[in-house]
Formats: sequence, C-alpha cells, structure tokens
Amino acid sequence: MTRPTPVIYDCDPGIDDAIALLGAFVSPELDIRAITPVCGNQPLDRTLRNALQICELGGRDDIPVHAGCHRPLCREPIHGQFHGATGLGNTVLPAPRKQAEATGAIACLADHLGRAARGEGDRITLCCLGPLTNIAMALRMYPEIAGGIERIVMMGGAFREPGNRTLTSEFNMLADPHAAQIVFAAGLPMTVLGLDATHQVMLRPEHVTQFAQSSGRIARTVAELMAFWDRNDAARYGSRGGPLHDPLVTAWMLRPDLFESRPARVFVETESPLCLGQTVADWYGKTGGAQNARIVTRVDAAGVIDLYVGLMSRYRERGAA
Ligand code: RIB
Ligand code: CA
Repeated sequence: MTRPTPVIYDCDPGIDDAIALLGAFVSPELDIRAITPVCGNQPLDRTLRNALQICELGGRDDIPVHAGCHRPLCREPIHGQFHGATGLGNTVLPAPRKQAEATGAIACLADHLGRAARGEGDRITLCCLGPLTNIAMALRMYPEIAGGIERIVMMGGAFREPGNRTLTSEFNMLADPHAAQIVFAAGLPMTVLGLDATHQVMLRPEHVTQFAQSSGRIARTVAELMAFWDRNDAARYGSRGGPLHDPLVTAWMLRPDLFESRPARVFVETESPLCLGQTVADWYGKTGGAQNARIVTRVDAAGVIDLYVGLMSRYRERGAA
C-alpha cells in the first residue's frame, strides 16, 4: 500500500459531515492530521462539540480537534436546516470527554501547511465539508501556506443544478461567499463536489437499513443519523432519502475512479442579493483566466453506497455490538 495521504478535515458537523468523518476514521489510506470545525450548519460551539463527539463515537480520540472561526468573514451567519436542533438530528451522544486543542484552527493550518511549504513536512490535502471561512482566513493571514496544500477536495457549489438554500446557491458557498471566492482565487489544485455530483447519490431508506446492519457498535447511531437525513421529497430529488453531500469528499479521496470531472474556472458571487454565493463556472475559457478547479460531473452512485457499506462494516469488525 502506498503511504497514507496526509489530510485535514475542515467541517461543520452536521449529519453528513459526521458520516464523511466516520468513513474517513476507518480508512488507513488517510492520515488524518487534524479536524478543524467551523461555523456553518450550527454555531461553532456546537460544530466543535459535535466533532469531538463524532471522534469519540468513531474511536478516534487520537485526532486533534482545533476550533475554527465563529463567524463568516463578512456576512451574517446562517445555519443548516436539515440537521436538527443540535446538528446531529435526534441523536443524543454522551457529553464529550475529549477536549479541543488549545490552539485554534488557523494556527493548526498555519503550522501543518507552513512546515510543508518550507519543505519540513508533508503537503496536506484539505478535505472541506463546510463553509471555507477557516481556509480563507488562514490564507489571508499566512499566504505562504498555499505552498503546503497538496489539493483542496471540497463539497460545495452548484453549477448546472439549482441551489439548495437559495434559487442559485448551495449552503456552504452561501454561508461564506467571500471566503469561497478567496479560496477559488488562490490558484490551488481543487476538486469540487457540488450539488451536480451530490444529487446523483441519494441515501435511500433501503440503504439506511444496509448501513445499520453493517456498522456494528455504531449501527444504531448511524441508522438514526441517516434516517433523520431523509428529505422525503421524491418530487424534488427523484426518490426518498437524502443527498449524500459531504461523504462524497471521503469517497473521492478513497476511490477517485468512481468520479468524473471537468476543468473550469470558478467564480463566486459576493455582491448580488438575489444570487449571493452562486458558483459560476467558465468551462470554455471565455474569461481568459486560468482554470482553477476540477468540477465533478458524474458519480458512480452505486459504487459510493457500496464503498460506505464496506466502510461502516469495519466498525462491526472492530468489535462490540
Ligand atoms: O449543501 C450541503 C452542505 O451544506 C453540506 O456540507 C452540509 O453539511 C451543509 O454544510
Ligand atoms: Ca457540511
């Protein structure tokens, strides 16, 4: 096996963030150096608590968690609508014993990425599951860290799909459009899993049963989280269930062969009241600038579901009913 890929998960747990993290926790292909929660689906105090609880649920107390930004860079905070009051649906997890690290997310990113940029450490892949506030802030405070980023693999944006929070805009981009524009303009290697990709993978009730039967000691919690995720809106999504947004980031890291992508130059709308947070793709070089992202256009949905059933079954193999 090749060396595990050094990654940092920047996230706003969040039910789908939780599933993405639980999949990553049991993947030896990923060397998770840190988790950096951000204000998004929930205020930071809650996304931080949820991240600590998910680490304990997944048996990964070893992963340092560094609290990120309390608010977006400019706009007023908005929060998720489909994650329940706590951000983890109806699931009640024990109060976390695990503590957040004393240093915050920006210092953590500056340390890991700065060392990599100076050739003193591994370049890091940033797996971004929420608004890009932490990443943008780190790039603004320490521009030299860009040299330590191997790639950004992010869930966010909507290109040929309509938005899921407004007519045009996907939640992570809308929640901090200025941060998103800073990151897209940074000239970093980026793989973008937008709604065009995530709406191809619906987590349906029959899948929830499969996951519950396969995930051993965390089966009940996984089933609860996934059942809460059901939008029950077949008219909109074409089936029961919920779109598997953030878990596609972990799936891409593990099985990029399940995905097809196309290069483009991506811009983020930061002014328009009607279209704030809209991601606009220049697929054909009309704007003259360099392409700054690969946008995922096709997903092997069955392959992703099978991948996650296999990942969750590793929790059964790790013992305890
Ligand atoms: O639009 C989907 C994204 O918004 C996901 O990351 C979900 O967790 C929410 O943050
Ligand atoms: Ca998220």
